[in-house]
Amino acid sequence: MMNPYIVGVLVPLVFSVIFRNKKSVKKRGLPVDVGGEPGYAIRNYRFTAPVETAWEDISTLAELFEQSSKQYDHKPLLGTRKLISREQDVSADGRSFEKLHLGSYEWLCYREAFEAACSFASGLVQLGHGKGERVAIFADTRAEWFIALQGCFRCNVTVVTIYSSLGEEALCHALNETEVSTLICGSKELTKLLNISGQLDTVKRVIYMDDYGMPPDVSVIERNSSWSLTSFWEVEKIGRESPVNAEFPVSADIAVIMYTSGSTGLPKGVMMTHRNVLATACAVMTIVPGLGTKDVYMAYLPLAHVLEIAAETVVVAAGASIGYGSPLTLTDTSNKIKKGTKGDASTLGPTIMASVPAILDRVRDGVRKQVDLKGGLSKKLFDVAYGRRLSAINGSWFGAWGLENILWNLLVFRKVRAILGGRIRFVLSGGAPLSADTQRFINICLGAPIGQGYGLTETCAGGTFSEVDDPSVGRVGAPLPCSFIKLVDWREGGYLTSDSPMPRGEIVIGGPNVTPGYFKNEEKTKEVYKDDERGMRWFYTGDIGQFHGDGCLEIVDRKKDIVKLQHGEYVSLGKVEAALIVSPYVDNIMLHADPFHSYCVALVVVSQNILEDWATRKEISFTDFSVLCQEEAAIKEVHGSLVKAAKTARLEKFEIPARIKLLPHAWTPESGLVTAALKLKREVIRKAFAEELSKLYES
Ligand SMILES: *[C@@H]1O[C@H](CO)[C@@H](O)[C@H](O)[C@H]1NC(C)=O
Ligand SMILES: *[C@@H]1O[C@H](CO)[C@@H](O)[C@H](O)[C@H]1NC(C)=O
Ligand SMILES: *[C@@H]1O[C@H](CO)[C@@H](O)[C@H](O)[C@H]1NC(C)=O
Ligand SMILES: *[C@@H]1O[C@H](CO)[C@@H](O)[C@H](O)[C@H]1NC(C)=O
Ligand SMILES: *[C@@H]1O[C@H](CO)[C@@H](O)[C@H](O)[C@H]1NC(C)=O
Repeated sequence: MMNPYIVGVLVPLVFSVIFRNKKSVKKRGLPVDVGGEPGYAIRNYRFTAPVETAWEDISTLAELFEQSSKQYDHKPLLGTRKLISREQDVSADGRSFEKLHLGSYEWLCYREAFEAACSFASGLVQLGHGKGERVAIFADTRAEWFIALQGCFRCNVTVVTIYSSLGEEALCHALNETEVSTLICGSKELTKLLNISGQLDTVKRVIYMDDYGMPPDVSVIERNSSWSLTSFWEVEKIGRESPVNAEFPVSADIAVIMYTSGSTGLPKGVMMTHRNVLATACAVMTIVPGLGTKDVYMAYLPLAHVLEIAAETVVVAAGASIGYGSPLTLTDTSNKIKKGTKGDASTLGPTIMASVPAILDRVRDGVRKQVDLKGGLSKKLFDVAYGRRLSAINGSWFGAWGLENILWNLLVFRKVRAILGGRIRFVLSGGAPLSADTQRFINICLGAPIGQGYGLTETCAGGTFSEVDDPSVGRVGAPLPCSFIKLVDWREGGYLTSDSPMPRGEIVIGGPNVTPGYFKNEEKTKEVYKDDERGMRWFYTGDIGQFHGDGCLEIVDRKKDIVKLQHGEYVSLGKVEAALIVSPYVDNIMLHADPFHSYCVALVVVSQNILEDWATRKEISFTDFSVLCQEEAAIKEVHGSLVKAAKTARLEKFEIPARIKLLPHAWTPESGLVTAALKLKREVIRKAFAEELSKLYES
């Protein structure tokens, strides 16, 4: 066995002499005059005007897919794993889990996928789906989702997508508001829909997909609803036998209406045109280095999310392959994978994947835990290797790619890389800000850069994107080639474009990726979208950002989360929460500021580890954590740690919660307290804990 100290000290010394890091500041975004409302605008350094499409004669997603199908013909496009067996496992407490044994990937090539989409389009028309009527897709991410989407595009049918974690009320609202006549869903979703079939007046037909060869029990539905039911493959077969001419959309036609979970009230449907999605996809293509037919993309995020639709569009445009999986089967140790069999990533060996911070955090925690469990020499080696790479990356990203790097890979990181198949070379992260710590951890352990993007459903995921050779953390990069980013003053919150050292203000995004607005909601659309005199459309994000000298954006605050206290101090809830959540005691936290008081309070979800520690210390075997959370000593301990975190972040005194309430149960999307992207639903939490909050303000 090699001595880790020799490896850790001597080798780096030799290498640091040979490979010296150079520091230089590359300008990634440049100021641009956009006229209109006064502000500070930045564009991508490579493009003077926003990019709409990468090909002159392509202006819709339907044309893009047809072009790729001709160009990449027999290259693999859609990969799905075959089911070998499924079994029920019963855990210690009597709950049963389904475990899957999945086989290798089976592929449809570009031509086959294209033919399937054409057949599906014809089948849809043959079933009686009329012109101008909408289709909704309510299913997990899978190859048929993609085929149905492309099929709809070919016959100019707008697709409504619904986040699967939305409740029944939101689902009814979305389907009813868009007057969907054809619903495409998986078996699991079909069962859910039965419950609300009485409220879905506009739905006439349902196309269902089976779950790994298991068709749903359609007889119950046939009895209890007036829907006509057809299986996905039947629709394709009908279309194949009696083809119908395609009816292409134009670029301004609505491709998708996307319902995502809002933090308040019923979800709003964001309309996206073909032009919008195409612009974002073409822009992102320029960011992923060397993207081409050799690349394999791991698809497992919900396709109802704009990030995944944009990513799969990019893959298709580049001639790469998409292997489908799910968050529950992603790795060898995922919940639904039968012990001893392979997860999606290790079977597929993807080169590129998209992710959201919550998933990357989980990967990081998993690896840390493994390393700690092993302990001893291998932990020391890991720490040395990690530290070496950290300081190498700090200089310049490419400085980390020497022979030394190969050595660390062999000794330490190969096993970590193997979790995701061992070939990952680029990770795309979006949906929410990624913590600096996680970003570095993934950088180092996977040896792959993370392209962090910032964008919203309303801007079709387009906005900014960090480049591969940008080693910084905590920033979201320069504007994408499709977007101009402008900061405008927000006086009330104290953010001005004249601020030094960096201009600050509300982030406004302009370009061909900015969507037409909210479906049937003119009023809300007018509030946050504006067209300027040069014909550019802008979206007011409500996020506060600042531009670094190199033209990269950093998100610093959120406009609507600012509360003015009794004595006139402004408290930015999001900012304070971000500073306090760093405390190891905190799993989640919501700051609450009542404008009629001079101080704020907070609800703190205590981290599971801490609760278990407390229970052990008190030698209680049963774990009624809510009792522990009421103890004065516990509250003091947690409060002390919050004050410490607040001091580190240099918070003002009035920003530190004066009183806190400890909570033992995690806030999950299922509980309805946070969104699927794990953002706090403040209104819902305030309602759920109204009593606790008012108690905190009693003297
Ligand atoms: C596509 O469908 C929309 C909605 O029905 C319609 O307004 C539009 O004119 C259609 N586009 C074409 C090119 O026919
Ligand atoms: C569906 O929409 C119609 C109007 O488009 C409305 O009158 C009706 O109440 C809605 N139904 C539900 C269940 O939301
Ligand atoms: C169906 O609705 C009832 C109440 O309306 C609810 O209790 C039940 O959980 C629902 N079932 C499913 C499968 O969603
Ligand atoms: C379906 O309808 C039958 C009566 O026709 C009823 O007994 C049954 O409870 C219904 N099932 C559901 C899930 O609504
Ligand atoms: C990396 O650089 C930052 C500032 O540029 C510095 O604060 C930090 O200590 C450095 N970390 C290491 C491990 O060199």
